[in-house]
Amino acid sequence: MSRLVVVSNRVALPGADQAGGLAVALNAALQETGGLWFGWSGRTVREASATVHEQRDGDIRYLTIDLSRDDFDGYYNGFANRTLWPLLHFRPDLVDYNRETQAAYRRVNAQFADHLAKQLRPDDLVWIHDYHLMPLAEELRARGVESRLGFFLHVPLPSADLVAALPSHERPFGALSAYDLLGFQTERDLERYQDYLRLYAGGKVLRKGVLLDRDGREFHAAAFPIGIDTPHIANLAVAAMRKPGVKRLQASLAGRALAIGVDRLDYSKGIPERFRAFANYLDRHPDQRGKLTYLQIAPVSRGGVSEYRELRRELEQLAGHINGGHAEPDWTPVRYVNRNHPHATLTGFYRMARIALVTPLRDGMNLVAKEYVAAQDPDDPGVLVLSSFAGAARELHSALQVNPYDIDGVADAIATAATMPLAERRERWRAMMDRISHYDIHRWRREFLSALAATRST
Ligand code: G6P
Repeated sequence: MSRLVVVSNRVALPGADQAGGLAVALNAALQETGGLWFGWSGRTVREASATVHEQRDGDIRYLTIDLSRDDFDGYYNGFANRTLWPLLHFRPDLVDYNRETQAAYRRVNAQFADHLAKQLRPDDLVWIHDYHLMPLAEELRARGVESRLGFFLHVPLPSADLVAALPSHERPFGALSAYDLLGFQTERDLERYQDYLRLYAGGKVLRKGVLLDRDGREFHAAAFPIGIDTPHIANLAVAAMRKPGVKRLQASLAGRALAIGVDRLDYSKGIPERFRAFANYLDRHPDQRGKLTYLQIAPVSRGGVSEYRELRRELEQLAGHINGGHAEPDWTPVRYVNRNHPHATLTGFYRMARIALVTPLRDGMNLVAKEYVAAQDPDDPGVLVLSSFAGAARELHSALQVNPYDIDGVADAIATAATMPLAERRERWRAMMDRISHYDIHRWRREFLSALAATRST
C-alpha cells in the first residue's frame, strides 16, 4: 500500500490544541491510516536552517521545519494572510499585494520542496493542503519528484474575474495545474476553478473534473466536502458534560438558555455583524431580556496582521456597548472570550447550547457547524443558525439559513430558534445528523485518496 504524506503549513503536533478546522480534520484523517505529516514547526528563528524536527505518535511521523523571521513575515503575515486570504474570501478591498511578500511566499514553498523532495518515494500519495502551498507541486516537480501529488483547498475559491485581479495570479493559481488532483469544498468552488482555468490560465475543461493545462497535460479536479469524525464528537460531547469547566458554565447560566459562537477571531467569520444581530434581537424582543445568554468564544488569530488587530478592537468596543446598553445587574447578554478552549470542552458547550450562531460572511466549509450538530442530545437538540455563505450550507439544508449581512434577518432567526418547538428541532437535527454521519471525515479522506491513486498507475 502507498504511504500517505500530508503537507500543510499548520501541523497539529501531539498534545497541542489547535484553533482552526484544518488541523483538527487532518489529525482525524491521519489517525486512521498513519503516515508522515510535514509542515512548519510553529517557530521562527533568526536564520533559516537545514534542521528538521522529528516526532512520532503511534503510526504518525511528524517532520517540521522552522522558518526565518523574515520569511515568515513575508510568507505568512504577508502573502498568505494579507493577499491570498482576503482574495479567497471575496474581500478584494482588503487585499494588499506586493512583490516582496510574493517572493517570500515562493521562497518558503521552495524551502518546503527542498526538504520534502529528500523524503519522498515514487509510490507515495502526497496530499498538500491549503492556500499557503499552492505552488508546491511545481517546486517538487522541478526537483524530479514523481509521486502522485494532490491538493485540497480548505477555503473558498472566488470567481475567476476576482482571482485574475491579483497581479501575477498565474504564479500561485496557474501553478495549481501541476498537481494530479485538485480538491475543493463544494461544486461551486470547482466550477469557479474551471472557469479560471479556461478564461485566464490557458487550460481546457474536457469534461467536468477532467482538465488540460496550457501544455495539454491532463489533470483532475473534484469537490470533496470535508467532514468530521461524527461518532467521536458525539461521544466527546456526552463525556464532556461531566467536566468541571462545562458544569461551571451550566451553573453560571442559572437556568437561562445559551446561544454559542466559536470562531477564530477573523473578519471572514462575520462576528461584528453577529453581535449587531444579537443586539437587534434584544431591542425587538424586550420580553426575552434575561432569558438568553450569548457566549462568543473567539481565540485570537494572526495577531501579526493589522486587520486582525483592528477587528479585535472593534469587537471589544461592540461587546462593551451591547452589554452596557442591555445588561441587568444579574445578567450579561454577551460573554465575549478570547481564550481558546480544549476541543473536548467545546463539544460540551455545544451540547449545552440551545442555539449555535455560525454566520460567516464566507467560509470554505465551517466544521463548527458540523460539530455542533454531532454534539447535540438527540432527545432535546438545539438549533443551528447557519450562513448560506458557508460551504456547510450546501449540505445542512435543514439548518436555519441566513444571509449574515442581513442583521434583521439574523435577529429574526435567533427569535425563531429560541422558540422552536421540540418536534421541529428534532426533525431538523435528524436530517443534518444523517448527512454528517454519512459524509464524514473518513469518507472525505477515502474519496480524495482513492481519486488521487486513480489519477495514474505507478
Ligand atoms: C483556516 C485555514 C487553515 C488554517 C486555519 C488556522 O482553517 O484554512 O489553513 O490553518 O484557518 O489559521 P492559522 O493561520 O492559525 O493557521
